[in-house]
Parts: sequence; C-alpha cells; structure tokens
Amino acid sequence: MRLKKKDILIILGSLILLSICGIGSWLWLGQSGLMLVVILSSVLILTAIFETYRRLGIEANRIKETFSQRADLLETYIQRTEPLLSLFFTIKPQLPLPDPAGYAAAPDLLKKLMEIVIRERPALIVETGSGVSTVILAYCLRQIGSGKVISLEHDAKYAVKSQELIKFHSLEDIATVIHAPLVDYDINGKKWLWYDTSQLKIEKPIDLLVVDGPPRRTQNLARYPALPILYKHFGDKVIIIGDDGNRIDEKRMVEIWRNEFQEFSYEFLKLEKGAFLLYKEKK
Ligand SMILES: C[S@@+](CC[C@H](N)C(=O)[O-])C[C@H]1O[C@@H](n2cnc3c(N)ncnc32)[C@H](O)[C@@H]1O
Repeated sequence: MRLKKKDILIILGSLILLSICGIGSWLWLGQSGLMLVVILSSVLILTAIFETYRRLGIEANRIKETFSQRADLLETYIQRTEPLLSLFFTIKPQLPLPDPAGYAAAPDLLKKLMEIVIRERPALIVETGSGVSTVILAYCLRQIGSGKVISLEHDAKYAVKSQELIKFHSLEDIATVIHAPLVDYDINGKKWLWYDTSQLKIEKPIDLLVVDGPPRRTQNLARYPALPILYKHFGDKVIIIGDDGNRIDEKRMVEIWRNEFQEFSYEFLKLEKGAFLLYKEKK
C-alpha cells in the first residue's frame, strides 16, 4: 500500500493548516490556544489511522480474492493433468496431439471415453462434432485391436482439419470424418437442424454414441435430434455419452430424451464441463 500524490498533498495541507491554526490561536488566545492544536492534531491522527485500516482491509480482500483465483486455476491444472497422463500412458500416441482447448472435450471426459472403449469394446462408435476426441477414440480402438469410429462434422473446414489430424496419426483405417452440413428434419411435427446423414453408411448397430455437436448456437436444444434420428441404428445394448452436461440446454435435452426413450438408464458425470451417460443393456 503506497502513498499517492493526493495523500501527500492532503498531509502537507493539513500540516500547514494545523500550523496556521496553532499560530493564530496562540496569538489570539495565548497558551490555552495550544489546546486547539492538540485537539486538531488528535483528530488528524485518528482520521489517518481509520483511513489506513480502511485501505488495509480493501487490500487484504484483493489479495484474498487473487489468491483464491490462483488456487482455483492451480486446481484446474491439476485436474486436467492427471487424466491426460493416464490417457497418454494408455494410448501411447506416437505424434503430438493438439491441446484439448476450449472447443474440445476436456481431459476428464477424454479419459472417461477411453475407459468406456477399453471396458465395452464397441465395434462401432458414432460421434457428432469432430476434433481431438475423434483421434483419442481411434487410438483407444487401436489399443483394443478392433472397432471403427465415424464422426459427423457440420463445418467443412473442421471436417478437413479433423480428417488431416487422423491421417497425421495414421488412424485412417479406424476413424472417418464425414462432412455432414446441417439440414432440416421434421421430428414429431417440429422443425430441427441436424447433420445430413445421407453419407452415413451404418452397417451394424451403434455401440457407443458420443454427442458433442452441433454447437449450441445452431438452435435451442441443438443436440436433441441425435437420439430420435439415430435410434433406429441402436442395438440391444448402446451407450450414449454427451459433453457439456452442465449447460441448461443439455440438462433440458436429457430430460426430454429420458421421457421419450424410457428404456435408458441415466447417470450424470461430475466432470469439468459435466457429462451425461445414457445406456441400455441387453434384456
Ligand atoms: C464441441 S466441438 C467438438 C469437439 C470434439 N468432439 C473434441 O472433443 O475435440 C464442436 C465443433 O468444434 C469445431 N472444431 C473442431 N476442431 C476445432 C478446432 N481445432 N478449433 C476450433 N473448433 C474446432 C467443429 O466444428 C466441431 O464440430
């Protein structure tokens, strides 16, 4: 806490005022006039003490806030590091992977996807919204020695980018990105925009569906059509996992899905961005 120019001017001004008052009252009232100087000095000292306390309080709050922000940041870094370590140790990528930045699934969800693939050994994974997750899923399938992943991508630029990423990691035999622009659908009399599935050739049931697109800005409940449209491709057993489970839109969407498709069990995953898991077991 430093003295500002304004503070120095106030102190100097008070001292000058005090001296003038002191001399004036001494000349006018004699020695008893000095009492006025003592009272004024006490008032000034008390004001300075209160002001110092006030400023120290503000400064202490600021330091506390900064410290708690840094602590949160550190916790986030730690939370993001552990899943990445376990992910990389398991899939052993031969080449550098892009940073799972803001647009991508967070490391804890990527780790969850890895655990599901290794445990459930899906033969066919369909993903909506391509990126780092597509490559991770393909690496996991390579690790278990079987299975394919098809990712639907509405954006031509990112369809190319994600396919290049797959090629860079030599995973073209496992993963495919389909450029599927958003087109109109009619679901129960309501209009929706969702991926064009005309290029999506599904020859066996979908075992795992990863819902991470289209982006929220597309429409309200942007990812809702995934289930009604792909439902016919599900077998007796399917797992659906979706990112961004903390968002109101996604919470509402899952509620609607659970109402419309009551055979699914549901679990909310407390991950960085929240995730939802719906699954249907063989009867
Ligand atoms: C929620 S992200 C999906 C990301 C993907 N599932 C993942 O975890 O990496 C939605 C959209 O981000 C876009 N995207 C893909 N790669 C990107 C990149 N490198 N930078 C910015 N956006 C990207 C794509 O259009 C994708 O459909």
